[in-house]
Amino acid sequence: MHHMTGKKQRTLSIVKPDGVAKGVIGEVVRRFEKEGIRIVAMKMLHLTKSQAEGFYAVHRERPFFASLTDFMSSGPIVVMVLEGDDVIARNRKIMGATDPAKADKGTIRADFAGNIERNIVHGSDAPETAATEIRYFFSDMEVV
Ligand code: RTP
Ligand code: MG
Repeated sequence: MHHMTGKKQRTLSIVKPDGVAKGVIGEVVRRFEKEGIRIVAMKMLHLTKSQAEGFYAVHRERPFFASLTDFMSSGPIVVMVLEGDDVIARNRKIMGATDPAKADKGTIRADFAGNIERNIVHGSDAPETAATEIRYFFSDMEVV
């Protein structure tokens, strides 16, 4: 056997309140499916402020924490578990840089995001954070 494919991974993706409001849920999903990424769990939620604070606890000391958690609890979001080879890095590539002004052309953030905070999507950044973030939103029974 050779190393034609990477390691199968799972990652958490979120269409943030700005993405839902702009009507790009379907477009985000399409970009994942077009790349052969499988969606193995999906639901819509409207986070409370305290649920948003729990999700972004790693950023508690950052100056943008209050604004970020206000934004993330401002409207419905769509949370998804993505599965595929090397999907953590592949999802980050499809999303583009945090700041849409610095994101590569053709990425979700370059195409749809308003600014560094209202940037349409979230994606886990490592296997450990992916596992924690998936557990934050989904029970084992909810992941197919
Ligand atoms: P995410 O966690 O949402 O996938 O985004 P990311 O890894 O690209 O960015 P991260 O550094 O983890 O920041 C989390 C989210 O906080 C908001 N943010 N605002 N005002 C600011 O300077 C600033 N920096 C980050 C963004 O919504 C970012 O996605
Ligand atoms: Mg992050």
